[in-house]
Amino acid sequence: MNSPSPLALVVDDDEGIRQMLSAVLSKEGFAVTTAADGVEAVAAFEANRPAVVLMDIRMPRMTGLQALAAMRKIDRAAAVILMTAFAQVETAVQAIKEGAFDYIIKPFDIAEVLLLVGRALQVRGLRDDIAVLHRALTASYRTDRILTNNPRMMELLQSVAKVAKSNATVLVTGESGTGKELVAAAVHYNSPRSGGPFVKVNCAAVPEGLLESEFFGHEKGAFTGAVARRRGRFEQAEHGTLFLDEIGDISPSLQVKLLRVLQEREFERVGGTEPVRSDVRVVVATNRNLEEMVRQGQFRQDLYFRLNVVTLRTIPLRERPEDVRLLSGHFLQRFAAENQIDVTGFDDRAMECLLRHSWPGNIRELSNAVERAVVMCTGRLIFPEDLPEQIACRPAEPEDAEEPVPADVAVDIAPGSGLPLRVMISQYEARAIGEALLRNGGNRMRTAQELGISRRSLLYKLQEYGIA
Ligand SMILES: Nc1ncnc2c1ncn2[C@@H]1O[C@H](COP(=O)(O)OP(=O)(O)OP(=O)(O)O)[C@@H](O)[C@H]1O
Ligand SMILES: [Mg+2]
Repeated sequence: MNSPSPLALVVDDDEGIRQMLSAVLSKEGFAVTTAADGVEAVAAFEANRPAVVLMDIRMPRMTGLQALAAMRKIDRAAAVILMTAFAQVETAVQAIKEGAFDYIIKPFDIAEVLLLVGRALQVRGLRDDIAVLHRALTASYRTDRILTNNPRMMELLQSVAKVAKSNATVLVTGESGTGKELVAAAVHYNSPRSGGPFVKVNCAAVPEGLLESEFFGHEKGAFTGAVARRRGRFEQAEHGTLFLDEIGDISPSLQVKLLRVLQEREFERVGGTEPVRSDVRVVVATNRNLEEMVRQGQFRQDLYFRLNVVTLRTIPLRERPEDVRLLSGHFLQRFAAENQIDVTGFDDRAMECLLRHSWPGNIRELSNAVERAVVMCTGRLIFPEDLPEQIACRPAEPEDAEEPVPADVAVDIAPGSGLPLRVMISQYEARAIGEALLRNGGNRMRTAQELGISRRSLLYKLQEYGIA
């Protein structure tokens, strides 16, 4: 149908029938090949991969049923129509159960044969279309993962599509857990480089002293422990995209080196003297305020300008209530399926809690909360009690409305709540951290300063409480 002349294979031990069907199908524009028994038929099928097979059931050497099974082993999508005498209809029905496309009873009408063959081809065409679509879907899988119903997020996604086409360096900013990494991946997978690698480095996770070698690789003997030459991330990302996460965390000396690759498109391995050419698109992300860091002299202004050619800013979850609904539903389905738990939705009050919560940890916090709720809940709906303590608000009930609930967190963990001290303390801590993060616009450095703890220990606690 889509190719100029599809191939039909006609199989019958009766030469008269072979000739007749060949003539009819050729006239209809098919290329036709024939076989006189099942063994020949399977060989012809394997060699020529016909689009459709018309095959007698009763034949010497190998029956139509056996040949059908053999063909389906070669190609599960084989379109096989069986021909049968009235007396063998039961066998024909069996054949359909075993994967034949259809059967036709002898003596048959030519029009009927043509109709069936046409339909088989159509189904086959659809199957091929589905396979093509499936491949296309898998390829765009990573970009389709950004779910949203929010108009500003949709604008952001349009910018992603536009920016992706260029080779410009992209800076992705936004609070923790808002999808910066997804945006970075979307830039890559929508770009002409999508066939190349997408390589990620989390600059905050690699010890300061090793980061340069992580970026640029090293020559053998460059430093103690450098027993062999190692390719760095820039080399690994050649012809693709390098995603430098937490870019605000790199040292001043590495900032200089990064600036150089961006400007001159070349670098040297640690301990090396030969410049290495580099064809890499760089996308960076941070939840720190780089502009502020420039002002305070912690981040080079020239590098900032280089990185900031295009800025994509993700939006906090609390500013997109429609996504709280959308994503909580999405996570619910996912975790219910993963854990094989039969949960179908949120009770209205639970949804109200989700909508009221301020989500300092954004989508990551939502995902953790829903996962926990799915595991905790006992029925088919999620109730406020199933949600983590800091999210399970007490929705306003008429009698409650009279007495405003003090915002002070101490209320929730007042003595007499029956909870172990350890739990009360962590609840208080999680809440205090969440609120401090919010006050500082998600800036972890300032949050840590305000709370009088180190940035590392803040990061640790954020992970522990699932806030980030
Ligand atoms: N719109 C979205 N649709 C579906 N999943 C999302 C969406 N946004 C974020 N997520 C999921 O939320 C989690 C956090 O997203 P991501 O890691 O991209 O955030 P981030 O901004 O890089 O966070 P951090 O600053 O902590 O590194 C991931 O598991 C991601 O898949
Ligand atoms: Mg990230």
